[in-house]
Amino acid sequence: MLQKYFPLWPDQASTVAAQVDALYIFLILITVVFTVIIFAMVATFSIKYRKGIHPIATQIEGSVALEIFWSVVPLAIAMLIFVWGAVLFFRLERAPQQAMDVYVVGKQWMWKLQHPSGPREINQLHIPVNTPVRLTMISQDVIHSFYVPEFRTKQDVLPGRYTYTWFEATKTGTFHLFCAEYCGTKHSGMIGEIIVMEPTAYQVWLSGGSEGGNLASGGEKLFTSLGCVTCHSGQADARGPNLAGVFGKPQKLSDGTTVIADENYIRNSILNPQLQIVAGFEPIMPTFSGQVSEESLIQLMAYIKSLQAPAGQPANTPAAPVAGPGRGSGATRGPQAVQNPGVKQ
Ligand code: CUA
Repeated sequence: MLQKYFPLWPDQASTVAAQVDALYIFLILITVVFTVIIFAMVATFSIKYRKGIHPIATQIEGSVALEIFWSVVPLAIAMLIFVWGAVLFFRLERAPQQAMDVYVVGKQWMWKLQHPSGPREINQLHIPVNTPVRLTMISQDVIHSFYVPEFRTKQDVLPGRYTYTWFEATKTGTFHLFCAEYCGTKHSGMIGEIIVMEPTAYQVWLSGGSEGGNLASGGEKLFTSLGCVTCHSGQADARGPNLAGVFGKPQKLSDGTTVIADENYIRNSILNPQLQIVAGFEPIMPTFSGQVSEESLIQLMAYIKSLQAPAGQPANTPAAPVAGPGRGSGATRGPQAVQNPGVKQ
């Protein structure tokens, strides 16, 4: 009721919003309680021990019980805040396995958003309600920050490195998207909206017009036109490693270390191929730095991800990205969804 007539907080429109607010309110209450205690004691003692009554100060010796009390109580409060905050942080950082993927490229001064099945948007993101959405984000210039107050989600978007965030909207409607990192003259204009739709309405929107095919098929075209396919042919005598099944798996490098082939590893391997050489291969790959845009890198990424499904596996159904919360076998849904050219052309 208070929130309705005197809104101190934005609407709570995601699964984590109420949890973030609860911690925030707790911090405010703790602050208020201690502020009141301190000011009350200052006032009380300055009256009780004023000069007229106590003209000569008396020395008070320490009290073990009191010292333990004022050490243990703040420690307990601090640890409660730490554990509470850490649990919430892990929840905010870890996207559910079955989350649908959206790729975000920030630049001065706009947001470019890309659905794996094809549609691209600028300063707008359409998503289905009650569905976890994982964002893989990068900037093509300076640091930006993807901030949706109603979802209580904020994540810096960096040049040169992918960052991630996720949310699950619990209400349909249109919500503000802000850039929350000062990024130049038109930072304040780097805004947009998240449009949360019923799953059926989202399907209708998804089947509406869009340019180009899905991300993975775009990546496959680039893979050929840039010449990647000549070395990464997948043949036994190929000069580069076979990329099928590589994504998300540990890779043994020539210096003896092992890395997980995540988005940042793949990106780095395209732009700085001499840095991490897969064991058993020569450092002969040229850099593609400056030749491929962030969007093209994301397409290549989607293609390489799509290579991990075993050959002959039936394509996922187009409805999969908006399946209800009860779905069970969505662990590899992202890659499968981008793999299916039938979703969106
Ligand atoms: Cu982008 Cu501020």
